[in-house]
Amino acid sequence: MGSLMRLDKMLAEMGMGTRSQIKELAKKGRIQVNGVTEKKTDRKVDFQKDVVAVDHVPVSYVELEYYMLNKPQGVVSATEDHDHETVVGLLKKGQEGPRRKDLFPVGRLDIDTEGLLLITNDGELAHGLLSPRRHVDKRYYAEVEGTLPEDACLRFRQGITLSDGTPTLPAKLELLDDREKAWEGSPADGSGSDTVRNFSRVVLTIHEGKFHQVKRMFEALGCRVVFLRRLSMGSLVLDEKLKPGEYRELSKEEVKRLRSDINDTQPVGNPGDRVFSA
Ligand code: URA
Repeated sequence: MGSLMRLDKMLAEMGMGTRSQIKELAKKGRIQVNGVTEKKTDRKVDFQKDVVAVDHVPVSYVELEYYMLNKPQGVVSATEDHDHETVVGLLKKGQEGPRRKDLFPVGRLDIDTEGLLLITNDGELAHGLLSPRRHVDKRYYAEVEGTLPEDACLRFRQGITLSDGTPTLPAKLELLDDREKAWEGSPADGSGSDTVRNFSRVVLTIHEGKFHQVKRMFEALGCRVVFLRRLSMGSLVLDEKLKPGEYRELSKEEVKRLRSDINDTQPVGNPGDRVFSA
């Protein structure tokens, strides 16, 4: 897209109202372009050069926005919801909230899952990251109840078959060391894999995003995920400084790396094409 666009479209995208509301503002003489009152809202402006203002307050145009949210539990991965707070709603509450009104979460985390969620209006990037053919890595920290079979790592590496018969791609399971704590603030008491309490702390890397996939993979091994946090998606790693509910904009470098994640990840045909060596 070039940098020329209709004045009403530009102002609507920046949340100044609907096109008809913007027309009303213009009629009242409240819109200025380069310091001159502008009544024609269908005229074109160059959003890189022209200074567009409402009531003499400049409105700058942002085409694409990218936020990393540490999703808290109890919030749904949606733009709107009748019953629960949404991840997009959380961003709007912040002081340095988004400018655009067309942001959406890239994929979904369950209501009780925490962690990394990318929120953007970049449809092309979202599509690439979510495409089942791209197999962008997703890394999760999980706390699991039940006794993991001794060959759990091997079984994940070979791909688990879910209870409804759905096969999954090979995944990488790491059992966390006894005293190592994956993350401050975890509900676990830090005792690691404990066969007496039938409780394990693990990190799992998967390459697809089936519905409740992590929970269902462990269920297939007779275990239950009691806590789940996404740590990364492709090259994008959850910023440890962000507490649940907090967010920040992505750096230009992070966006660039995500774009190359998509280009570097060749579409793969068969689940068996990619098997972890570790
Ligand atoms: N897998 C799940 O089971 N839940 C999530 O929220 C994400 C991955």
